[in-house]
Amino acid sequence: MIRSRRMRRTQAIRDLVAETDLRPRHLIQPYFVQKAKGFSEIAALPGIGRTGIHETCAQVEKDLKKGLRSVLLFGIPDEKAPDAHGAHDPDGAVPLTIKALKTQFGDDLIVMTDVCLCSYTDHGHCGLVHDGEVVNDASVALLAEMAVRHAEAGADVLAPSDMMDGRIAAMRVRLDEEGFQNRAIMSYAIKHAGAYYGPFREAADSSPKFGDRRSYQMDPRNSREGLRDGLMDLEEGADILLLKPALPNLDLIWRLREASLAPIAAYHVSSEFSSVKAAEERGWVNGDQLLYEHLIAIRRAGADMIVTYAGREALEKGWVQ
Ligand code: PBG
Ligand code: ZN
Repeated sequence: MIRSRRMRRTQAIRDLVAETDLRPRHLIQPYFVQKAKGFSEIAALPGIGRTGIHETCAQVEKDLKKGLRSVLLFGIPDEKAPDAHGAHDPDGAVPLTIKALKTQFGDDLIVMTDVCLCSYTDHGHCGLVHDGEVVNDASVALLAEMAVRHAEAGADVLAPSDMMDGRIAAMRVRLDEEGFQNRAIMSYAIKHAGAYYGPFREAADSSPKFGDRRSYQMDPRNSREGLRDGLMDLEEGADILLLKPALPNLDLIWRLREASLAPIAAYHVSSEFSSVKAAEERGWVNGDQLLYEHLIAIRRAGADMIVTYAGREALEKGWVQ
C-alpha cells in the first residue's frame, strides 16, 4: 500500500517535501504616492494609504529591513486634465518619489512604476479620449514619454498597465533613444476587464467617468487572446510578463509560463485583498491564513513574483519569512 501520509507526518517532513515557497524576495509592495505630506487612509484597502514623499521613504525603510525589496509606485497627481499632462511632469509625485527613494536606498531597492494615464485624465480612462473613443497611438506616444520621465528619475522597472497596442515597442524605442537601455519593462500582458479593481480605483481616484474599460482591457472569457498578447509583448521588448487579477487566472499564469521563458509576475489585486479583509472583519475567515493560501497558490501556478497589498503585513506578522 502506498502511504502518502508518511510524508505529511511532521512539520519537518512536510517542509522537506514542500514544492513551493513564498519568500520576501517574491513580493512587490504597491504604494500610492502624492506630493501632499502625510498619510491618508484608503477605506477600501485596510492598512494601505496614500503617502507623501517623506512618509513613503520612511515606510520603505522599514519594509526593506524586513526584506521587502520591491515597490510599485502609483501616482496621485495634484490635478487631472483631458491631456493627462501630469503623467509626464518631471516634477510630479512619482518622479520626485523615485529620486528620493533612489537617493536614500540606491540599488538595494527595486523601484517599479505604474505607467498609465487613468489617474491623470479627468475622464479616468487609461488613454486619451477623442470624440468619445479611447485612442491608441496618441496615448502610446504619451505613455512612452511618461516612462522616460520615470527612467530619468531613476526607476528600475517600468510597468505599463494601460493595455494600448504597441506600447511596449514604443516605450522600448524611447527609453533606448534616451540612453536607458538598461531599464526593464514589466508588461501587463494579460489584464482582464471587470469588477476586481474596485478598491484600487477608490485609492487612485481613477474610475472611468463614462463607459468602461472593455475596449482596451481583455475579455475574461478569453485565454488564447492573452497568451498571444503576452508573446507579442515579449517580441516588442518586455522583460517581465504580468497577469491580473491573479486567482481567477491561475490557469493563464501556468500557460503563460509554459508558453514563454520570461519571468512571470502576478498582481494579487485590490479586491482579492480587500474581500479577505472584509470577511475577516465579520469573523468569517482567518484573514492571514487565507491571504497566505492565496499567495502560495499564485506561486504554485508559476508566478515568480507577486504584486500584493499584503506584502508588508506578511513580513510584519511573520507569515512570510
Ligand atoms: C489601471 C490599473 C488598475 C490597476 C492597476 N492599474 C485597474 C483599473 O482601473 O483598470 C488595478 C490594481 C488593483 O485592483 O489592485 N491602469
Ligand atoms: Zn489605467
